[in-house]
Amino acid sequence: MKITVVGAGAVGATCADNIARREIAEEVVLLDIKEGFAEGKAMDMMQTAALLGFNTKISGVTNDYSKTAGSSVVVITSGLPRKPGMTREELIGINAGIVKGVAQNILEYSPDAIIIVISNPMDTMTYLALKSLGIPKNRIIGMGGTLDSARFKYYLSVALNCNSNDLQGFVIGGHGDTTMIPLTRLATYQSLPVSDLLDKETLAKVAAETMVGGATLTGLLGTSAWYAPGAAGAVLVESIIRDEKRLFTCSVSLEGEYGQTDICLGVPVIISRKGWEKIIDYKLNEEEQAALNKSADAVRSMNKVLEEMKLI
Ligand code: 2OP
Repeated sequence: MKITVVGAGAVGATCADNIARREIAEEVVLLDIKEGFAEGKAMDMMQTAALLGFNTKISGVTNDYSKTAGSSVVVITSGLPRKPGMTREELIGINAGIVKGVAQNILEYSPDAIIIVISNPMDTMTYLALKSLGIPKNRIIGMGGTLDSARFKYYLSVALNCNSNDLQGFVIGGHGDTTMIPLTRLATYQSLPVSDLLDKETLAKVAAETMVGGATLTGLLGTSAWYAPGAAGAVLVESIIRDEKRLFTCSVSLEGEYGQTDICLGVPVIISRKGWEKIIDYKLNEEEQAALNKSADAVRSMNKVLEEMKLI
């Protein structure tokens, strides 16, 4: 199997590195527009193969989409990352044109590829891919909730002083500081509701920290995070390639599910060889549904910019 990662910046390179180290596919192509950049990153990664013992072949190319031909999964990380103080939404003007062009080039050489979108604003970029590519909706997956749910578990693990692998927890809604919804009511620690283990104030603090998890890192790093975003992309690729049917929250096209239509928004989905296979209904309470509706409104108003830019 062949995987392409578009964008050899920190997120794309980390994603490719994780795919190789876990030997998820035989071949990873890393593509970037900056001359020699993807080639250099790929060569550096390949020089870890003899140290780490993996057999995946990573190659880098400068803007040559013919080298990506026949990819089963393509991860799009292209575009600018956030700077401190910037929202993901502020990136739309620059990133939308880039993502649309990349997605079209990819499809020309890999018409059956499943597309994973990481570029921000992620829900809007996923919607742009959905509207402009004309491929089945199940082949377009926005990564956001997978990352946000991992951050949610991280903050829960700190509050509970436990191993984050013993936690279950989902973040649904948009991948934005004010639009994501950590579902604290449904989070568990090995089947125990975390609401039995943490007081209301602590749970509210965990939710708030999760929501600004990306912004916290942007403030610390001076640019947006890459280890967890790259890893989130890689585990989605893994669930597709190995047909694992794992449950993640991803931004997918909704047609009435969770009361929403004509939008890509984060909901729990099964990820398999088909792409996203099925949406799982978590039966939200009134308060959670109201938060999701508000989140959808915010994402929808962002999506309108795509029409104004005449991209869809
Ligand atoms: C983040 O939240 C890059 O959107 C990504 O870190």
